[in-house]
Amino acid sequence: MNIKLIYARLKADIDFIEQELERAVGSSSPILEEASLHLLQAGGKRIRPVMLLLGAKFGDYDIHRVKHAAASLELIHMASLVHDDVIDDAVIRRGKHTVKAEWDNRIAMYTGDYIFAAALECITQIEDMEAHRILSHTMTELCIGEIVQIQDKYRYEQHLRDYLRRIKRKTAILIAASCQLGAIAAGAPASIHRKLYEFGYNVGMSFQITDDILDFTASEKELGKPAGGDLLQGNITLPVLYAMENEEMRSLISSVHAHSSREEINEIIARLKSSDAIEKSHELSRRYLDRALNILNELPPGKHRNSLRDIAHFIGKRKY
Ligand code: IPE
Ligand code: IPE
Ligand code: MG
Ligand code: MG
Ligand code: MG
Repeated sequence: MNIKLIYARLKADIDFIEQELERAVGSSSPILEEASLHLLQAGGKRIRPVMLLLGAKFGDYDIHRVKHAAASLELIHMASLVHDDVIDDAVIRRGKHTVKAEWDNRIAMYTGDYIFAAALECITQIEDMEAHRILSHTMTELCIGEIVQIQDKYRYEQHLRDYLRRIKRKTAILIAASCQLGAIAAGAPASIHRKLYEFGYNVGMSFQITDDILDFTASEKELGKPAGGDLLQGNITLPVLYAMENEEMRSLISSVHAHSSREEINEIIARLKSSDAIEKSHELSRRYLDRALNILNELPPGKHRNSLRDIAHFIGKRKY
């Protein structure tokens, strides 16, 4: 099924969560509210709350039981984006100025913190202790992932496993938690919510690999955020690691440093795109997706399982 149909079927509940989100970032501080709404209203795929809702369908589904968990996940994601754009010096996100560009880095720091706090407030409405443990672990890992990425910039001796550990922390665990928490909030048994976690983890790995491929292959218009920034910033992503398996590319890429010019980087990006690095990255992304789909087969069959399968396929083919 088309991804749009999945969203259409969930529309009433997604709209409900949108209202929760708007309410959650409401504040007596105009600047914090404005900056948070600026990002919220710019759109975004809302993939995490949608996966949470689908996970919840494996339990005793009631939007009022799961709305707080769904809102908190999108808020954690949004907060991490506000901070990420400071770290990555990014000017455009979701087709609009980033908070750091529209205001400045100091405002972005506190807007990110503020949105994290809004997530915490939603989380207090969740009774299940395991949900609290999962969420705090997710936030801790996300911070570690982003910090390790800073430390690993321009470190050309790193291995595939360093990259995989980083993206697990910064992206995959949050998507895993999204799938699992819906099921927990809806009272599904552990045998089911643990499988949903494993499914979400593999989808999340594929999701970030695709994001890293798109940074090389897509345009700003498609992405709603600038492409080509990762290498310019010294971030060694999967396509770069694969390209460096070639000696000539390795010496070219490892000459990149903080003051390399945009022209120099563009030349390397063009060569990387004509190598097999992109196809090899797609291959690994597909392997994670296949694993996710196999795990899905162990869950009870039905239309919700089919929707999760369709989301996984969308993530495998996404262009934005
Ligand atoms: C962007 O996430 C950050 C990554 C983990 C790659 P999304 O691609 O889900 O961003 P939005 O929410 O749709 O803007
Ligand atoms: C994911 O990495 C960001 C977070 C986990 C916050 P990116 O830095 O690649 O995300 P984009 O490309 O800016 O959305
Ligand atoms: Mg980043
Ligand atoms: Mg970024
Ligand atoms: Mg990216």
